[in-house]
Amino acid sequence: MSDAQTDACARSLSSSPRAALFSPANMDAWQTGMDRISQLVAEQLDSVQKPFSGITPEALRPAFADLDLETPLENLEAGLEELKSLYLKDAVYFHHPRYIAHLNCPVVLPGVWAESLLGAINSSLDTWDQSAGGTLIEQRLIDWTTERLGLGPTADGIFTSGGTQSNLMALLLARDAVCEKLPNHPGNQTHGLPPEAGRLRVFASGISHFSLQKACALLGLGHNAVVPVAVDERRRMDPVALRDALDNARAEGLIPMAVVATAGTTDFGSIDPLQAIGRECHARGIWFHVDGAYGGGLITSRRHGHWLKGTEMADSVTIDYHKTFFQPVSCSACVVRDRTQLRHVTYHADYLNPELQAREGTPDQVNKSLQTTRRFDALKLWMTLRLMGADALGDMLDCVIDLTREGYQLLEAAPDIDVVQAPELSTLVFRFHDATEETLGAEQWDALNREIRKRLSRSGEAIVAATKVSGRQYLKFTLLNPETRQEDLAAVVELIRQHGQALVKAHQLAVSTTAQPNHGAPLADIPTASRRSHTTEAKESRHA
Ligand SMILES: Cc1ncc(COP(=O)(O)O)c(C=O)c1O
Repeated sequence: MSDAQTDACARSLSSSPRAALFSPANMDAWQTGMDRISQLVAEQLDSVQKPFSGITPEALRPAFADLDLETPLENLEAGLEELKSLYLKDAVYFHHPRYIAHLNCPVVLPGVWAESLLGAINSSLDTWDQSAGGTLIEQRLIDWTTERLGLGPTADGIFTSGGTQSNLMALLLARDAVCEKLPNHPGNQTHGLPPEAGRLRVFASGISHFSLQKACALLGLGHNAVVPVAVDERRRMDPVALRDALDNARAEGLIPMAVVATAGTTDFGSIDPLQAIGRECHARGIWFHVDGAYGGGLITSRRHGHWLKGTEMADSVTIDYHKTFFQPVSCSACVVRDRTQLRHVTYHADYLNPELQAREGTPDQVNKSLQTTRRFDALKLWMTLRLMGADALGDMLDCVIDLTREGYQLLEAAPDIDVVQAPELSTLVFRFHDATEETLGAEQWDALNREIRKRLSRSGEAIVAATKVSGRQYLKFTLLNPETRQEDLAAVVELIRQHGQALVKAHQLAVSTTAQPNHGAPLADIPTASRRSHTTEAKESRHA
């Protein structure tokens, strides 16, 4: 580090607050700080051997309790030093090939570069007069997305904070579009919900994302407004079950407000039959929403893009660039086929986006958004498309789809692993279930698999997720990292096996030494072993 750089890092920002402003006068300090932060991140990534240190909240919490937020640290160097111990040392690293838990992707460099740029310029995308070209960049990307989805020339949309907000917005539009057509109701936006609101229903597969329930609660309809529709053996919505559910609802005097098809369910990656569902919705005049938070990235895939066929019939689509487009959090969009539907979220404020401004053609994005002040998240996707191109993203997604198929072969071949089904997108749901052991009952196998996950996380060697299938505990791999190799999956499966076998052994020991029932055995406190064959149970849950 040069003397000037050392100075900038050593300078106190509390004694001269104006030296802390992002302004032309302070560019040297800014650049030095950015260099120092880049250096720290590079060092950190270089030293990361595992996706997680394994620290527990109990172990980390005391360090926060002692912090004095009223007294600033003396300089950047001290701030970074503190961050190393409070955060970086124990962060969860999504770029690591053995982080295979949730729908978090490793991120591409253009997206990370864009994050620093957008944070520095700090445009707010609510109005043209706070963003200018930023608005046009966002609009161009929305157009690119709707073109790829095949939504047609009247489509439009907006960037959001994530799939949860996109689903909320889509259901809000659906609710207000339906209510607008009710007799003697001048519209929700001004007058609130009509008496019929309690009869509105949203139809989605039983394994759709919980953000739909949350959205319905926020929209004044309640969780119970979401009607779960049965899935087929590949866990895709059954169109016949949908038809029956819609008929039953009509017969009971309920009002179908929307059907939500999931293009990539969170646990199984299953893609509902979009064309069949779309046709059903069109025939009945029901709002058709596609939750493509996970599978939306297929619009970039040259090999699997056709899996989204039918999305072009949707009234609205959720798409998360921060999942299958390899973008930093957050980066998502809610797009609609008919841009006039966005009027349901429009409100004109004299100080910000007066109606006259809209009539003059000023592109104020706040007219289409639930948010007011809004990050320029679009810049990340923009830089990615301009520097890498969509095909490069699609190739990475294809790569993880291929890896998932290889992973499935590996799990299927393992005698002590019960894998639920062949993969659809890039998840694998399975559990350790030692086929040669008769010692454990169903609940004990559940507890054992929960414990395996905990032990893996505590060791930090690998991070996997967990979920339930037909009430039984399973483990889950979500594969979004093109750097993860088959050998990584094999190594993680071996770790799972080792933990599983050790737990079974410890349990057997505890059972055999009845004088000391808690012989250090982690499963000793779970219910006594059932004599029922667990291979039968495995088969049952596979077909449940
Ligand atoms: C199918 C689906 N929809 C919606 C969401 C919510 O997205 P977000 O976490 O970006 O709010 C998720 C998250 O995993 C998802 O899998």
